[in-house]
Amino acid sequence: MKIIEARDYDHMSRQAANIISAQVILKPASVLGLATGSSPIGAYRQLIDWYGKGDIDFSAVRTVNLDEYVGLGPEDSQSYAHFMRVHLFDHVNIRRENTHIPDGLNDDAQAECRRYDEIIASLGGIDLQLLGLGPNGHIGFNEPSRSFAKGTHKVELSPATVEANRRFFGPGRQVPGYAYTMGICDIMQARRVVMVVSGSHKAAIVRDAFLGPVTPEVPASILQLHRDFTLVADRESLSLL
Ligand code: F6R
Repeated sequence: MKIIEARDYDHMSRQAANIISAQVILKPASVLGLATGSSPIGAYRQLIDWYGKGDIDFSAVRTVNLDEYVGLGPEDSQSYAHFMRVHLFDHVNIRRENTHIPDGLNDDAQAECRRYDEIIASLGGIDLQLLGLGPNGHIGFNEPSRSFAKGTHKVELSPATVEANRRFFGPGRQVPGYAYTMGICDIMQARRVVMVVSGSHKAAIVRDAFLGPVTPEVPASILQLHRDFTLVADRESLSLL
């Protein structure tokens, strides 16, 4: 495990964007596993900037997102499909047919999860998986539990996650209770994993995940065992490490 200590959110974002950009420059047809939430937005902004300057080309890149809320379609402003268009896809030359996100409107959970794992397999696996860190240690929506879920699955979001994500939903809108998420095995099989974390509110969970024991009660702790894992984190989030 490598740790890159960044000064602040912007520095963290540029460091992560540098790693992603190097990946795409070295392998233009890379399969990128992508995340939503506030942590990766700055990295996406930086990639868009470099794309605008002609420094990075997404025309051959394929992407698979970590997760999607069950019940939200791509046109819903709170869906992760919408998030990805707004924060990255609409601003770079990625081909829409090369982007993949679980279909939140498919209510046949088993079929949807199988379909998604088949997509990941058909792409030859993930070259670089970008992650954020949930306040309870979740990665994707792999919530704390008694065992590590392997492949894509439907998950009931924990009260802590629903609470943490409420800030993205307007007043009067409920945070969905379920999501489809890649499993721990999908994430661990990525050839390289990069996590972006910032803020003092993440310091305790960063400590538990990376200094504590490997346990499904803190799903991110499994990354201690990944052969190419880089934590790009700002000083505040590393303050207890
Ligand atoms: C998002 C995802 C989540 C977030 C995590 C942190 O696709 O899978 O695991 O990465 O909840 O969210 P932020 O970055 O908003 O603190």
